[in-house]
Amino acid sequence: MSTNPTGDRTDREPVLDLHQIQGNILVPFGTPFQSFLYLALDRAHASAWVARTLPEITSTRSLIDAHRAGGPRAAVGLSLSASGLRALGARPDALLDVPFQDGLAARSTLLGDPHDPDDPGTARHWPTGGPDTTADALLVVGADTAEAVGALTGRLLSGPGAPRLLHHDRCATRPGPDGDREHFGYRDPVSQPAVRGVAADTGEPLCPVSDPARPDEALPGQMRLWPGEFVFGHPGQDPVAFAPPGPVASGGPGWTDNGSLLVVRRYRQDVAGFLKFAARTSAELERRGFPGWSPDAVSARLFGRWRDGTPLSVSPKGPDPSVSACPSAVNDFGFTPLRGPVDDTAGHRVPVGAHIRKAYPRDHATDLETLAGIETHRLMRRGVPYTGADGETGMAFACYQTSIERQFEFVVRSWLNNPYQQHEGDNHDPVVGRPHRPVGDAVPREFVFRVPSDDPEGTAVRIPMPRHFTVPRGGGYFLTPSLSALETLSAPSPHRPLGGPL
Ligand code: HEM
Repeated sequence: MSTNPTGDRTDREPVLDLHQIQGNILVPFGTPFQSFLYLALDRAHASAWVARTLPEITSTRSLIDAHRAGGPRAAVGLSLSASGLRALGARPDALLDVPFQDGLAARSTLLGDPHDPDDPGTARHWPTGGPDTTADALLVVGADTAEAVGALTGRLLSGPGAPRLLHHDRCATRPGPDGDREHFGYRDPVSQPAVRGVAADTGEPLCPVSDPARPDEALPGQMRLWPGEFVFGHPGQDPVAFAPPGPVASGGPGWTDNGSLLVVRRYRQDVAGFLKFAARTSAELERRGFPGWSPDAVSARLFGRWRDGTPLSVSPKGPDPSVSACPSAVNDFGFTPLRGPVDDTAGHRVPVGAHIRKAYPRDHATDLETLAGIETHRLMRRGVPYTGADGETGMAFACYQTSIERQFEFVVRSWLNNPYQQHEGDNHDPVVGRPHRPVGDAVPREFVFRVPSDDPEGTAVRIPMPRHFTVPRGGGYFLTPSLSALETLSAPSPHRPLGGPL
């Protein structure tokens, strides 16, 4: 194997056709304003509308070029649900991903969502993505002002046979001093996987290695994954060994190559409830004989980072701008001596149940997964906060992957919602975790703080957490096809290059 001067394994790097892969999958739109538009396709005109929209869709290549020129002024992405594929004459059951075929509403209870008829988190109450409110298509329109998003949206959704708008989320990043913040006040995203591969047109690596001594990472702590984790038609991770390429990710039919699966989950966020929990827990710890835990220190434990993104693993006593502002430091940590900086296997710095640790255990092999296996459950997160017309605040959580079952659903079901995972004595994820079974029959929600005490192992303080700070409010499971697949889908059936129905 040869390496180039930056340490990239050029002879093993997959070649990516960035003109074919839609933007936002491998490279984020990065626009401060984004509308998530949930659409019902007009069956008779669906192909014609896709054909008309196709030239507006942003490829990864045009996104990269726009970022280099100072940021995209506008970006558009189009994704289709199972019913959307049907409307365009394709067969969703030809795709290998069963959750995609089923759709989010059918998988809702598997994700631990409430099913009490009075609970707003129950699928039938969702404003979109419920049993009767599932969209055929999701159009994501981004721009640098809300007005520009509105103007572009108006253009895309006008004309004969244009789709009907079922639901509209106006999303906007919430810029903070150090990066974008979600509604609870935490910087997000800070950690994303890097992707191996070079651009077919320029030969440039998508995520270059910054330290030749660490060829498996882009920035320190940011693992370089094989692109098949996020885009069909390319090798993915080998679940047994980290570095060599695993099997090529197949979506089923060949036309899914260079496409990806998009999960969108709308979560309503109860910001006041979150802040109240932090204040009450701070007081409760003091009452139990552990003073000095400020509300900020408590809520940082729920995430595993301080508000500015400083990892608790690196700086347990408080935020450190020299770490949070440094791209090479902000993700350079693990939870065990393997990656350091300390042995935090027991969760003294970052509780074993903290959100970032539940969602990505890094170097801490879990009861269910080896170190290489952990990297087969990564998500490319593209969520943006929304604010509803009625003042509702929430997160349009969005993530790309090539297996909804192995990636998004595994993370939710096996890690976030599972009080015994990643390890015995753990807890539900404090941000979005929900017991699998109806309350009463399930392990109660609580959070385990390991606080310093006379015992060298510290004392595990269990704080009940009956109230949820987030409520699922819909979304959808979509396929984000390649540009050429959209072209094929938009051709009137008899003229399709593949001949007849897809
Ligand atoms: C309202 C919903 C959510 C909020 C407010 C939220 C917030 C956050 C924040 C503040 C971070 C730390 C920043 C970072 O490390 O990038 C984070 C990280 C992360 N979250 Fe969430 N999150 C939400 C839902 C979810 C869901 C549903 C999943 C998975 C199914 C998820 C998976 C992750 C992952 C994988 C990370 C990065 C962990 C790492 O690489 O260290 N999050 N989230």
